[in-house]
Amino acid sequence: RIVFLNGSFLPIEEAKVPFMDRGFLFGDGIYEGIAVLGGHLVDNEAHLERLERSLREVRIPNPYTREEWTQLEEELARRNGLTEGFIYFQVTRGVAERDFMFPENTTPTVAMFTQAKSIVNSPAAETGIAVITVPDLRWKRRDIKSINLLAQVLAKQAAKEAGAQEAWMVEDGFVTEGGSSSGFIVTKEGRIVARPLSNAILPGITRQSLLALSKEAGIELEERPFTVEEACDAAEAFLTSASNFVLPIVSIDGRPIGNGKPGPVTKKLRAIYIRMAT
Ligand code: PDD
Repeated sequence: RIVFLNGSFLPIEEAKVPFMDRGFLFGDGIYEGIAVLGGHLVDNEAHLERLERSLREVRIPNPYTREEWTQLEEELARRNGLTEGFIYFQVTRGVAERDFMFPENTTPTVAMFTQAKSIVNSPAAETGIAVITVPDLRWKRRDIKSINLLAQVLAKQAAKEAGAQEAWMVEDGFVTEGGSSSGFIVTKEGRIVARPLSNAILPGITRQSLLALSKEAGIELEERPFTVEEACDAAEAFLTSASNFVLPIVSIDGRPIGNGKPGPVTKKLRAIYIRMAT
């Protein structure tokens, strides 16, 4: 397995990050994750735009241009023979003596790896998945794709221990998003309900792309927050993420959604998204 670290492609066993990296000590970094399908990068421009934005917001200099990032992604996919799966990349503020304030003259650490995964032929897409709800314990800048993921680690572990596959985080009675996905419901009238973008959620790239595709398909959208109660009562629920595209949700906290099977709108949206990505 070949990874990319600070300018070099090398076997993962040889890729070492220094002890004093600020990603390790402070979680002082940001990341991106992008799907590869048929050897092609899905929604690459939008992911790189969000990467640039995350870096700007935390004031880490962007080490590469969009063209350079794209070349690195393509080269890494090629070297790993990755035709379907996920590319992860992160940038930390770099290596320095431990001190909270920004160090001077450090170079950002850049790390990238790939994961092979069947996204299109996924058993979870056939059966749908279970989610639980947990309080949203995260900080107030969830729009930044920060590598600080402790709240999500705890939320998703709680989901696993409850026999579920994702946790929906809840704040002031409203669902914010999933531990590693955007959350949606479908009303009995067949309209999609999605929480509007703000600092409370990550601007999901799959969300953005899917909402554009659903509009073209004539499916109506209500962009507003929704409660857990409304979600449990909805006709359908689903999630989106780069690593799963669109996945049906068939129960929330053990309560079945609709008839407890993946719904028609969700299936259609998944098909539309896969067609676009292929
Ligand atoms: N997670 N919300 C959160 C909190 C996320 O971590 C993610 C992505 C999303 C979906 O965003 P996108 O459609 O751009 O992947 C929403 C990635 C896949 C991860 O951490 O593995």
